[in-house]
Formats: sequence, C-alpha cells, structure tokens
Amino acid sequence: MTLNIAVLVSGRGSNLQSIIDNIENGYIPDAAIKVVVSDKGDAYALERANDHGIDGVFIDPSAFGGKKGYEKEVLKTLEKYDTELVVLAGYMRIIGSDLIEAYRNRIMNIHPALLPSFMGLHAQKQAFDYGVKVAGCTVHFVDEGMDTGPIILQRSVPVLEEDTEDTLADRILEQEHKIYPEAVKLFVEDRLKVDGRKVSIS
Ligand code: GRF
Repeated sequence: MTLNIAVLVSGRGSNLQSIIDNIENGYIPDAAIKVVVSDKGDAYALERANDHGIDGVFIDPSAFGGKKGYEKEVLKTLEKYDTELVVLAGYMRIIGSDLIEAYRNRIMNIHPALLPSFMGLHAQKQAFDYGVKVAGCTVHFVDEGMDTGPIILQRSVPVLEEDTEDTLADRILEQEHKIYPEAVKLFVEDRLKVDGRKVSIS
C-alpha cells in the first residue's frame, strides 16, 4: 500500500526536495507525493515538483472570497488526490479549523527553532538575536495555534561564536532536511501515536 502525501508550499521548497529525494532513494518506503499545492504562482517548489513528475497546483488565495473559500479549494484538491498526510514545507499561511478538523493529526509542519521557543516568523533570527547557545528545528503536528501542535521530532545545533544569522540558518536547515524525512517515514510506517500533547514513537 502506498500512502498518499500532499505537500503545501509557498517558496523555495528545499524541504520538499529532501522529502522527494528520500522517497526516491527508498528511505521513505511505500509513500508518494501526489500533489504539491502552492499559494504562490511563482514558488520555486512548483518547479521542483514538475522536475519529478509530481502535479503542482497553484491555488490563488485571492480568488475564492476569503480564507474559508480558499481553504475549501485546498481541501477539495487534497481530497481529489486521496491525500492521507499533509506536509507543510515553507507554507506561509496559518491553517484554518476546517482543514485541521479534516486532517486532525495528519498535518505536519517544520519550524526552524526548538519549540516552544521562538514561534512565528524569522525564528532563526529570533534565536540568534536572543543569544542562545543551542538552536535547532522541530517537526510537529499542526493544531489550531501557530507552531503549538504536538512535537514529533527535534534536533539541536550549536550556535558558534563566529555565526551570523545566515550561517546559523544554514546549519539549522541542514538538520531540517534530515528530521523532516525521518518524521514522514515514522508516519508512513504508522509508528506515531498522539496522546494529547505527547507523540510517542514505537
Ligand atoms: C524552513 O526554514 C522551514 O523551517 C520554515 O520555512 C522554511 C522553508 O524552506 N517553515 P524551504 O521552502 O523548505 O526551502
């Protein structure tokens, strides 16, 4: 049985690429990305999808009379592709309650900080400016809050004396590209159990 994945994107799509690569090289078995949905027509992630023979769909948020209408269209697209897991990869929108209810504990996100520290935008800059000595990234299920859902995996990286915001962000991104495929693999293998805030891995 192949598990059908949809990836939602807004931009460059390097996390999308790492998941594509790890499906293609067999690290994530029995899964296929059926569709990449973007809220930006010019997202580079759409080109990546195209390069790998994956359908890319641009859904224009301004074309459906508001957030509810837009998300209804997103949901329609997810259902059309028999989506079983939704992966947010640099998708710059907050997911509304209708989508969350339709895919409870089946929507994942990656955040470039060790949650619950540095929620929201520019997390790497927040961490760098704060002066933390350890930074990192988090894969979590998506709930109604922003970056608040149950945590699946986290990975830490050191902050070095010579770091700039960019070198730190690069070090974090390298780890994102490892833990996101790892989390997707665990989901596909049905090894994640959610109990309240806790995600246990079997
Ligand atoms: C990543 O840093 C991710 O953690 C955050 O947005 C960025 C997306 O990068 N949610 P990419 O589009 O996957 O390259």
